[in-house]
Amino acid sequence: MDLMEAITQRRSIHEYKPENVEGDLLEEIFNLATLAPTHRMKQAWNILLYQADGKEDYSKAVLDSYHRKGFFTGYELEKREQLEEGIREFLLHIPHHALIYMERDEDERKYEEDYASVCAYIQNVQLLAWEAGVGVLWTTSPYLHDPQFSWDIGLDPSKFKLVSVLQIGYPKRIPNPKKRTPIKSKLKVIDTSQKADV
Ligand SMILES: Cc1cc2nc3c(=O)[nH]c(=O)nc-3n(C[C@H](O)[C@H](O)[C@H](O)COP(=O)(O)O)c2cc1C
Repeated sequence: MDLMEAITQRRSIHEYKPENVEGDLLEEIFNLATLAPTHRMKQAWNILLYQADGKEDYSKAVLDSYHRKGFFTGYELEKREQLEEGIREFLLHIPHHALIYMERDEDERKYEEDYASVCAYIQNVQLLAWEAGVGVLWTTSPYLHDPQFSWDIGLDPSKFKLVSVLQIGYPKRIPNPKKRTPIKSKLKVIDTSQKADV
């Protein structure tokens, strides 16, 4: 698969087959993705990869966060338990959750450089995974901004920024492409040499 194919065919995947992706393949994807551009060679990306039994603790931390955020408030006990179980089952059915995080640099400019670089890393992961037949969903759920969630997964929120959780697995269903606005309407060419010629 060439790059253009990977970019045009990649889709965000929401439904996965029940099997795990081979550990070596995941590591290869995560490793090749490190060739993302990174200013000052900071390589700010870090990954907590939850899979198999490891997903239990992760799911609990997510549900606890949903409780704190008031997601279940106002529901009768039975309905609340149903909702909780539904979310838990949903999370446990996703083969891998890769939580991507970075150290917070106190310098705003460096923080932005690191964040941008980590996003480039994530897109590399998505494209490399796609090429290998592996689906990814880039997510940014509210719990990533819940300091207690951060503590619960062992990261001091004052020191670390939780960037994303990538859901990963072999796709069960590939969604239809979502159209993009052609760049022509957003592109303004500034070329004074053209003006001079008129
Ligand atoms: C920073 C970022 C956060 C995202 N967060 C979510 C998310 O929380 N849930 C979700 O379903 N998709 C999320 N997405 C995926 C987008 O919704 C998806 O890329 C968009 O709908 C276009 O679909 P495509 O990737 O299949 O082309 C996120 C994408 C980015 C770049």
